[in-house]
Parts: sequence; structure tokens; C-alpha cells
Amino acid sequence: MSVSDIIADLKALYAEKNCGPIMIRLSWHDAGVYSNGAKTGGCPNAAMRFTDGGEGSFGANAGLPTVALGLLQPITDKYVTPGVISHADLWALAANVAIEHMGGPAIPTRFGRVDATSSAESVESQSMRLPDGDKGVDHLREIFHPKGFTDRDIVALSGAHTVGKCHADRSGFDGAWTEDHLKFDNSYFTDMLNKQYTDMTTAAGCPQKKHESGTIMLISDLALLEPPFREWVELYAKDQDAFFKDFVAAWVKLQENGCTGLRDSL
Ligand code: HEM
Repeated sequence: MSVSDIIADLKALYAEKNCGPIMIRLSWHDAGVYSNGAKTGGCPNAAMRFTDGGEGSFGANAGLPTVALGLLQPITDKYVTPGVISHADLWALAANVAIEHMGGPAIPTRFGRVDATSSAESVESQSMRLPDGDKGVDHLREIFHPKGFTDRDIVALSGAHTVGKCHADRSGFDGAWTEDHLKFDNSYFTDMLNKQYTDMTTAAGCPQKKHESGTIMLISDLALLEPPFREWVELYAKDQDAFFKDFVAAWVKLQENGCTGLRDSL
């Protein structure tokens, strides 16, 4: 088995199913529960694959154990091998291949994340670990600072919403952030600065912002227009390379938060 075989299979899956964005969210929610503040632990361990409680049944993860893992199943069956590549490693790699496949930066993946063996190895709840889309910057800071991220990192990481969609039957929010939700570029930031948004409530009762073209922003996205966050929104809107550079640094840190002894190759 080589990493390039796995990458080739992931690219073929994305070309056929256009499912790169949900793989990014899978890796983000596996690693994103990590905290080193009032809550501790939560390194990426693929606990979400168990649905008898724990991370696999968190509301915030709706769609990930079913849709994302369903799409990934043939590649999981073919490659996941204890001691070589774990489920959590595959999820990290799947996200990084998706980002590059959609036009984003190349991202190095390291290996050696240790998988949970049951739902009991989940963090206790999503609360204070994963962010809510209907809240503002105080909430974003409460969630991201204990993971070791700065305000600038929060802006760069949020830029992942340049791809993908909100699904009414998963989060209750509804719609894509940008015109081309399969292109990883800086249009999340240019849209945020250039488009006028109005308030709306989705059919599921969630408050969000919409533009007349049909694209949306969450309250947590437009909160980034407040200083000091706005400075980096403006930078990334005019300089995509700066966005990519900052995104890669914050994203690799997120994917490896709490992990020890990772290897550069399988
Ligand atoms: C800053 C706080 C964040 C909030 C409040 C937030 C919230 C959300 C919500 C509500 C959805 C919709 C899920 C669905 O209905 O399918 C979503 C999707 C998504 N999020 Fe975030 N998110 C945040 C940060 C991030 C970060 C840090 C990343 C990765 C670096 C990320 C990547 C994505 C992607 C790629 C999708 C699209 C998934 C798809 O198309 O299926 N988000 N996010």
C-alpha cells in the first residue's frame, strides 16, 4: 500500500460524487473537539464511527457517520490497517486531498493517530468543543482559543466555508456560502465584503443570512466582519496566497492537536 494509491482512489471518489466538502467537515469535527482549557482531551480518534452514543450521535455531527462514512466505506475497507493507517489518519488525508482537488493548497498529512475502539472514547459532549453557527465572536473565541488558535487563525479556518453547503436535514441551516461550492478559493472572503445580506429563518427554524443570488452566510461567518477579525477578512479577500498560507498552518495544527509521535509517511 502506498499513500499515492489512497490519494488516487480519493480523487476518483471526488470526481464521481463531488463530495470533497463533507470530508473536510469530517476531519474538522474529529479533530475539532480537542480542547486544552476548562475541557481537555479530544484528539482526533475517529470516535464518530460509533453511533451507539458519543461523538457519532452528537447533533453537531449530523450526516458525518452516515453520509461521509458511507461514501468513504470502500476506501476504508481497502486501506485502513492498524499500525499503518488508522481511520482518523484516513479522514485527515481525505480532507487534505479534497482541499487540493478543489483548487486549494497542497497540505502535508502525517500518520499515526490512534483510533478509539468504542464510543466510550468520545469527548463528553459537543458543548464548548464545537462551534454554533448562530453565535458571534465571543463564542468563537471561547471555542477556538482553548484549542490554541488566535483570532487570525479563526478567520483563516472559517475560510473553509468557501466550499460546501449547509443542509436543512443536518444542521438546520440551508444553502451554500459561495457561487461555486466545489472551488476552494478566497470567494468566502470577497463575498462577505462585497455582498449585502439580509436576515432569514430556515424551514428548520434556524436564523441565517442570505444574499439575493441564493448564497448564504451564518451569523458566525458575518461576525468576522467585526474588528479585529475584519483585518484578516480584508487581507484574505485581496490576497488568496496569504489565505492559503495561514489556512494550511492552522489546519495542520488542528488536524494534529493532541497527537504525539506522528510519522511523515505510512
Ligand atoms: C467557525 C465556526 C464554525 C461554525 C459555526 C461552522 C458551522 C457549520 C455548519 C452549521 C455547517 C453545515 C453542516 C450541514 O448542514 O451539513 C458547516 C459545514 C461545513 N463546515 Fe463549518 N463551521 C465552522 C468552522 C469550520 C471549520 C474550522 C472548518 C474547516 C476548516 C469548516 C468546514 C466546513 C465544511 C467544508 C462544511 C460543508 C460540509 C458539506 O458540504 O457537507 N467549518 N459548518
